[in-house]
Formats: sequence, structure tokens, C-alpha cells
Amino acid sequence: MSGASFKSTDIDANHDVSLENIKASHALSGDVSALDAYYQDWAETYDADVSAEGYVGPAFTAHLAAAAVADAGMEPSDVTVLDAGCGTGLVGAELARSGFGAVDGVDLSRPMVEKAQATGFYRNLVGGVDLSEPIDCVEDEHYDLVTCCGVFTVGHVEAEALDHIVAPARAGAFLVISTRNSYLRESRFTQHVDELVGDGKLELLKADDDGPYIDEEGATYWVLRK
Ligand SMILES: C[S@@+](CC[C@H](N)C(=O)[O-])C[C@H]1O[C@@H](n2cnc3c(N)ncnc32)[C@H](O)[C@@H]1O
Repeated sequence: MSGASFKSTDIDANHDVSLENIKASHALSGDVSALDAYYQDWAETYDADVSAEGYVGPAFTAHLAAAAVADAGMEPSDVTVLDAGCGTGLVGAELARSGFGAVDGVDLSRPMVEKAQATGFYRNLVGGVDLSEPIDCVEDEHYDLVTCCGVFTVGHVEAEALDHIVAPARAGAFLVISTRNSYLRESRFTQHVDELVGDGKLELLKADDDGPYIDEEGATYWVLRK
């Protein structure tokens, strides 16, 4: 629409709605049916809402993934990736920008996965996958890299879901995971990482505290190796 302009009141109102949508998703207490229903409705406006709130988690996740792979002397184009909780495909888009080509995705929400499919950045995608349970639609010990951005967040999954995203990673694979600051404060995620590292199941390469995530708050980004 040529000559269109936004009034500041419109911008304020849009900001209120996008922030409200994000906050409502945090109030679902990990109830899988409620999360599924919520994202069914949110899929259509998710990208616009998180963009309005300055969501840079996917870009930062892809940046850390590319750095980890480069440090290991690997080419992104040779790396197989599982994007766990892929949503509408924002991480896949950023991974593609960094040269990753073989990216699969899983997510609880089928409407979110349909959006990811439409991006064209994923090889295989499966919806209806609850990360609170073992993932049975992908092979164990298979992927070179697992990304998980925006899922270890308030009201979504418990720290133990980490076990289920570690399983599809092959020995030596990298995992790049965001944990929103407020989630990290109230969950057992740090303790659970410590347990897995103590048991020799993971190596902690890096945990960037309070990295860039969304306007409202930062996140810790974990770079782990199996
Ligand atoms: C904030 S979005 C993040 C999506 C995407 N990774 C991104 O960064 O834009 C959270 C995603 O987690 C998914 N999700 C929530 N609970 C889940 C669960 N128990 N198992 C699998 N996915 C889940 C939602 O369907 C949604 O796509």
C-alpha cells in the first residue's frame, strides 16, 4: 500500500499483542495438549510476533553452530542437523544462511511444522513429536549437530527433555541449545547438564550467559559435545 504509515498508537498496540502472545505461551505449565492447542492458533502470526519483540535466538544459535563446526574442521554442507522444536523454521533459515544443507526438524505442533515446510530449508520434518518423551521418529546416534532454540523456555519442557535430544546425536556431535534466563533460574537445566557431564555423557564446550535472545531478556546458549 503506497504512502501507508503507521501511527505510534498502532505500533504500541501491535507490540502489546505480540508480547502478550509470547507471555501466554509461557503460562502453559508444560501441558502438552495446551501447548499443542496454543501453537495451533499462534502458528500464523508467530514469525511476525517474535520479530516484533526482537527475537534473535535463531540467528545466535546458527552462529554458535557454525563456529563449533568450523572449530572441528568440518564444512557445514557436510553436517547433518536435527533442529529439535523447529517451530516455523526460523533456525533452519539461519542455518541455511550459514551453509548448512542437510537439516531435519521435529516439533510438537503440526501447524508450526507446516510453516517450516514452506520455508524450503528442511530436508525432513515431523510434527506431533513431544520432546518430553524419547523421539522415536529419528535414529539414535545419527546427527552431527542438534539445535534446540526457544524450547527450553518457561511453560514448555522440563530439563529432562535434554536426554531426548541428546539421543539422536552421534558420538562427537555438537548440541547448541538456548535456555531463556527466566527458565534457567527456575528449572533444573544447569543441574541436569552437570549430571550428564559428570556421567561422561556430554562435554560442556561453552555456556554463554545472558546472550542476545529477545528484547525482554537474554538467554544462556549451551554448546555441548556428545
Ligand atoms: C518459542 S517456539 C521456538 C520455535 C523455533 N525453534 C524458533 O526458535 O523460532 C517453541 C516451540 O516449541 C514447541 N514445543 C513446545 N512444547 C514442546 C514439546 N513438549 N515437544 C516438542 N516441541 C514442543 C512449540 O510447538 C514451538 O514450535
